[in-house]
Amino acid sequence: MMLTQGRAFAAQRPAVQQRRMAVRANVARVPQVNAAAVEAKPDWVSLAKEMDNKSPLEIMDHALKTFGSDIAIAFSGAEDVALIEYAHLTGRPYRVFSLDTGRLNAETYQLFDAVEKHYKIRIEYTFPEAQEVMDLVRAKGLFSFYEDGHNECCRIRKVKPLRKQLKVYKAWITGQRKDQSPGTRTEVPVVQVDPVFEGVTGGPGSLIKYNPLSNMTSAEVWSFLRVMNVPTNKLHNCGYISIGCEPCTRPVLPNQAEREGRWWWEDAAAKECGLHSGNIKKADGTTEERKADRDLWPAGSAVATLSKDEVRALAAGNRSQGTLAVLYAPWCPFCQAMEANFEELAKQMKGHKVRVAKYQADIDREFCNDNLQLKTFPTIVYLPPNSKQVIKYPSERRDVETLTMWVKTVAGQ
Ligand code: ADX
Ligand code: SF4
Repeated sequence: MMLTQGRAFAAQRPAVQQRRMAVRANVARVPQVNAAAVEAKPDWVSLAKEMDNKSPLEIMDHALKTFGSDIAIAFSGAEDVALIEYAHLTGRPYRVFSLDTGRLNAETYQLFDAVEKHYKIRIEYTFPEAQEVMDLVRAKGLFSFYEDGHNECCRIRKVKPLRKQLKVYKAWITGQRKDQSPGTRTEVPVVQVDPVFEGVTGGPGSLIKYNPLSNMTSAEVWSFLRVMNVPTNKLHNCGYISIGCEPCTRPVLPNQAEREGRWWWEDAAAKECGLHSGNIKKADGTTEERKADRDLWPAGSAVATLSKDEVRALAAGNRSQGTLAVLYAPWCPFCQAMEANFEELAKQMKGHKVRVAKYQADIDREFCNDNLQLKTFPTIVYLPPNSKQVIKYPSERRDVETLTMWVKTVAGQ
């Protein structure tokens, strides 16, 4: 184990040190949990609410103060290097671990090295079990995930090593942010009882998970990294935003959601590799899991409801006006996540020549697959008037502004 004093390095660089001290001075009083309280199982839900408006620095300080050497930062080699800078700014000792899957980009390894030198730390690397990797690649080749999905490989290369590593801690710190994924991360609290993994004492509830960057936007993280002169992954200069393993990550285009570059060949719903699977509310796909408490865009909504007959007529090209339709499933967390935005869009489009509508497609899946380009939920399509054409919305970005811009681009003002 390597413990690092954040102060030592900053002392060599006075300008940076001054900025850091200024930030450090802003560490306000935050609710504290002492070791005894941790044993007595504090109410982490209430604490998360109390700390929700605290700065990442304050949350990091809380984490390190509360757990000392029993907590570590999980560093992926991307913009979550901000976590290390924040830990450094607290002036407290901190630990960092990285899961080396064996498939990371060269640039990521270079960043690990640069970070070790910059902060004078040693990252605690973990590696997958050699036998398991050998069994997998000998049986299925090096790129089985493109055919079988990423779960099997991620389980061997990431999830199992993570599970083992977390067993030595009482808490961990991740770089998850709400704005990373409209479907799976919008509810990431700043601190929580880990819903999936266990800590050193074992059993459910034995591990605390801090997400100090949760409420930061990508833009805020990047401003922070720039102003603090933090070393960053060179892939970010080439259009990458979210960075994972080399074969499973690609750059995104301007305005694409950042996780669209991860496992791009799979459903959006599958885009949690298992490290944060607790974010997926209903993950196992059983019928019971697919029940919903209520319908989306219920009566009174500005979003029109299409009947089965109307959908058949639209698919046949029987269209007097253009229709923007969301093909949804009420149980789908991604559909739920876009409900408010799509409602707002429908309100804003009132009086426009395009009608904004919904169709519950999970109960008519085959027809929608064959005729309306449904592949995953939600699928948003524009159906131009007097035509059989189906134009699929190609992005996972479902904010009102982007959707409005797109409709007007394909349908006219
Ligand atoms: S992932 O689950 O899709 O891979 P993502 O890349 O968004 O996660 O990263 C979210 C957080 O998970 C990171 O900020 C980091 O805390 C943790 N994490 C992801 N990959 C790794 C890794 N290889 N090593 C250590 N932590 C990681
Ligand atoms: Fe394997 Fe890709 Fe998962 Fe990396 S991200 S562990 S290469 S499936």
